[in-house]
Amino acid sequence: MTIAQTKAPVGAPIAAGLTALERFGKLERPDLRYTPEVAEATAPIYEKVKHIIPAIEWPALAPTIHAINKLKKQRNAVILAHNYMTPDIYHGVADIVGDSLQLAIEATRTDAEVIVQCGVHFMAETSKILSPEKTVLIPDMRAGCSLAESITGADVRALRERNPGIPIITYVNTSADVKAECDICCTSSNALQVVESFGVDKVFLIPDKYLAANVGNKTDVEVLVWDGACEVHERFTAEELRDYRKIEPNVKIIAHPECPPEVVAEADFAGSTAHMIDWVKTKRPEKVMMITECSMADNVASETPGVDYIRPCNLCPHMKRITLNKILDTLLEMKEEVVVDPAVADRARTAVERMINLKI
Ligand code: 13P
Ligand code: SF4
Repeated sequence: MTIAQTKAPVGAPIAAGLTALERFGKLERPDLRYTPEVAEATAPIYEKVKHIIPAIEWPALAPTIHAINKLKKQRNAVILAHNYMTPDIYHGVADIVGDSLQLAIEATRTDAEVIVQCGVHFMAETSKILSPEKTVLIPDMRAGCSLAESITGADVRALRERNPGIPIITYVNTSADVKAECDICCTSSNALQVVESFGVDKVFLIPDKYLAANVGNKTDVEVLVWDGACEVHERFTAEELRDYRKIEPNVKIIAHPECPPEVVAEADFAGSTAHMIDWVKTKRPEKVMMITECSMADNVASETPGVDYIRPCNLCPHMKRITLNKILDTLLEMKEEVVVDPAVADRARTAVERMINLKI
């Protein structure tokens, strides 16, 4: 089933009271020279990224990494970073790394006053929904997502009107407005279990038509779709996977479920970014190909010695907006605060908490 698609803008912050800068104040820009102290403090981090960052580049990165790590303490801030962040962020400054589900859960657990979300806007919004009392910052407000932009809250209301009684599950890759209109949220880690949790024969899983189709292939529940797609994963084709297998017959191929079903059918395993990482760490294949965003293989390679990564991949332009320099500026200037209308946040929280409470 295909339903007409409309475009929605990436959520813009709603001004309320004092800005984060007014509440916290601006800090002086630190000295960013590569001193012996910086070299020593960052040496253990370099060990984790030396497979991907040449030694000649380290003096340019290390002072910013060191400064961010000091600033986090000064600001009582935690950095939640998605698995698609570049290795300098993932291994250098992140306190917590994970897939969308893990990051959402960690947002509820942290004691820090400030969350710097290194990922895309819907992830920062999810943290704000779950921790409304915290200050949530994103290093680049323009870091969107083609899935989140494919549907609005008004679209969901119209969908419900046309299909009364059918539960509507929203993938976490949506705006707070959309979550507020849905019955429950899901991520790629738990979509199948959330679909089956209703005990009915038909549900909507919006907005990713490929995730919905991949889940539909694993269950007797009829999974109805919205016409959204991830611009990164929809570019992979089953034909290219077959071609890679001809060149590398021993390769294990693992794919993200945002890929088209025919791509998933060609893969040896499909799962969320965290499940893909776990799969490689557990199975330790000789050669592996991760059919997803490029930073995944870069990040996990240092933790899986002996595994050879064949690296066809697609970059997510939105995730790649997040850089070390922007994280530094965010912590110094307390800018790019994510604000969600409290009434919308309350309704969206119900959908996200229902998912978390399923404990899948
Ligand atoms: P995960 O929940 O698997 O990390 O996926 C998030 C995402 O945006 C993948 O494109
Ligand atoms: Fe969105 Fe796809 Fe980028 Fe993930 S990879 S943030 S789903 S555009």
